[in-house]
Amino acid sequence: MDDIRAAQAAALSQVEQADSLEAIAALDSTLLGKQGEIAAFKRQLGSLETVDEKKAAGQAVNEALQAVAAALETRQRELGDAALQAKVAAERLDLTEYVTAPTRGHAHLVTQAWERLEDVFIGLGFQVAEGPEVETDWHNFEALNMGEGHPARGEFDTLFVDYAPEGGSEGRTVLRTHTSPVQIRTMLEQEPPIYIVAPGRVFRRDTPDATHMPVFHQIEGLVIDRNITLADLAGTIEAFTHAFFGPGFSSRLRPSYFPFTEPSAEFDVQRPDGSWLELGGCGMVHPNVLRAGGLDPTEWSGFAFGFGIDRMAVMRHQVADLRDMYADDIRFATQF
Ligand code: PHE
Repeated sequence: MDDIRAAQAAALSQVEQADSLEAIAALDSTLLGKQGEIAAFKRQLGSLETVDEKKAAGQAVNEALQAVAAALETRQRELGDAALQAKVAAERLDLTEYVTAPTRGHAHLVTQAWERLEDVFIGLGFQVAEGPEVETDWHNFEALNMGEGHPARGEFDTLFVDYAPEGGSEGRTVLRTHTSPVQIRTMLEQEPPIYIVAPGRVFRRDTPDATHMPVFHQIEGLVIDRNITLADLAGTIEAFTHAFFGPGFSSRLRPSYFPFTEPSAEFDVQRPDGSWLELGGCGMVHPNVLRAGGLDPTEWSGFAFGFGIDRMAVMRHQVADLRDMYADDIRFATQF
C-alpha cells in the first residue's frame, strides 16, 4: 500500500512540474498506460494472500490512477489557458488608436461664431429672433424699400425659387439674400420696443472663391423704440466691438447707402495694431420700412445693422480660404 501511495505522490509531482502540453501528453501514457508504474501494481495483486488485501490494494491502485488522471486534466487545462493567452499576446494588434474613447469634436467654426455673437448681444440686452430662409420677394426686397426694378436689387444676385408660399406668388419667392427681412417680420409680429438680433443662413448666386460662398451667414440687428438716434447706433456698435473683440478694439461708421436705412453707414473695427476691418452695414431704419412693418415713423424710430458671421470666424481663426470651412475635411476641422 505504501508503495502505491508513493508511486501516486511521485506521479502527481511529475504532473505538477510538467510545463508544456507536449509534456502532459507524454506523462499521460507513461503514468496511466499499461506499462506505467502504477498499472504494474495490478500485476502484483495476484501475489497478495487474502481477498481483502487484494480488494484493498486494487482499490488503492484505481484511486491512484484516478487521482493522476484528474491531475493531468487540470494541469492540461492550466497549460492550455496559458498557451492561449501567450498566443493572444503574441498575435495582439495594437488597436488603441481605434478603440480608445472617441475624441470630443467641436461645433463648426461658424456655429461657434454664431453662438458667441448671440451671447454678446444677449449680454447687451438683445433678444434672438428668426425668420425663414425661403422668403417672399416682398419681405426680402419690397418691404425693405427696394421696389420692383430698384437698382439695389441687382446687387444681390438673387436665387429665385419655383414655389409660391402662402401670401406669395410663383416667381416671387426667393432664398433670402440677407437677414434684413427678419426686421419686417419682427415689426409685424411684436410691439415696440424691439431689441433683437437675427442670425441666419443667406443665399446669393455667387461663384465660390476664397472670400465668397453662395450660402453664408449673417446676423441682423434691429432696435425700435422712441427717440432712437444715430448716437444710439454708434454707441451700440462700439459696445459690441468691445464686448466681442476686446478692450483694445474700437469702431467707426463711414457714410454709405442702403435702401432700407437713412442715413446709412458701413461700420469698421480698428484692431489694436491700428489696421481697419470692414464689418458690415447699418443705419437708421427708413420711414418706408417702418411703415411696411406697420409702425408710425412719427412715433417710432430705430436702427438696424447686419454683418457676415463667416467672416468673423475666418478672421478669428485666420482661415485663408472660406471654402475650407465647408469642405468637410477632417484635417482642417481638427486644427481648431
Ligand atoms: N442687409 C445688408 C446686406 O446684406 C446689411 C444691412 C443690414 C445694412 C441692416 C443696413 C442695415 O448687405
